[in-house]
Amino acid sequence: MVTRVVFKAPMPMLLRACWQVSGLCSAAILLSCTPAEQPPISPPGALVADEVCSFCHGVTGQSIAQEVPKLAGQQKAYLTKQLTRFRGHEHLGEFSARYMRQFAQLTDGQIDELSEYFSEQPPMTAQGDGEHTVGEAIYRSGLPNISVPGCASCHGAQAQGSGSIPRLAGQHARYLSQRLEVLAAAQGSVSSSHLLPPAAAEMVALYLASLGANK
Ligand code: HEC
Ligand code: HEC
Repeated sequence: MVTRVVFKAPMPMLLRACWQVSGLCSAAILLSCTPAEQPPISPPGALVADEVCSFCHGVTGQSIAQEVPKLAGQQKAYLTKQLTRFRGHEHLGEFSARYMRQFAQLTDGQIDELSEYFSEQPPMTAQGDGEHTVGEAIYRSGLPNISVPGCASCHGAQAQGSGSIPRLAGQHARYLSQRLEVLAAAQGSVSSSHLLPPAAAEMVALYLASLGANK
């Protein structure tokens, strides 16, 4: 005996095809049809990313505005650290206070899922071209005359970051310069690694923005 299945939604096309071909869609055919019918499973975090964060950061974390950081391919541990700081209102900087203050309601689970989602996206794309020899030299060797260490020693040879040290390759130049200013003004060891004169900060930022994945 054939059990008829009542479909709430319109019968999916493939299933309907099975139905027509066999005339009696047996359980076996149903089984072999259904896997192809499953809607793609969105990764956790994708819904909030799409409905809330995408407005400023873009759906996949490739933000357009120079002041809004790209999150695509950012280190997961770093994203988690920053989102936890936003939640506790402990993140430094005027822009953070203005734009990210409203995200105090995120749960630990949502922070983890959002960090996972953005870190798994294709990494930030390169922008700008041309030579950046001075910026690159600062990135590799720092400014020994004023005791600023090379950035690559922490941020990595490709500026890809690691763990709670952020990826910088492909990030917006203006955002990088602005963060360098904020970090330099902070206290402690993170500050001393980021104490660049403004002109040097700008050159290294333009160099970093030109790295990253190809468009
Ligand atoms: C209204 C615009 C806006 C929305 C919506 C928004 N952000 Fe942001 N976000 C910003 C801006 C601007 C900054 C840069 C703050 C600064 O310069 O300190 C930022 C910074 C961040 C950073 C720090 C990145 C870094 O490199 O340090 C993370 C992580 C982040 N946002 C994640 C999110 C997530 C996740 C959501 C969604 C829940 C979200 N943002 C929604 C505007 C926004
Ligand atoms: C001793 C290790 C170390 C060195 C050297 C270092 N950094 Fe960093 N950098 C960090 C850490 C850790 C953070 C994250 C700070 C935080 O938690 O907010 C950071 C954050 C940053 C940020 C903020 C990125 C964002 O998404 O908000 C920028 C920009 C940056 N570094 C650029 C540089 C540049 C340019 C140099 C070289 C002049 C440099 N760093 C040298 C460890 C280092």
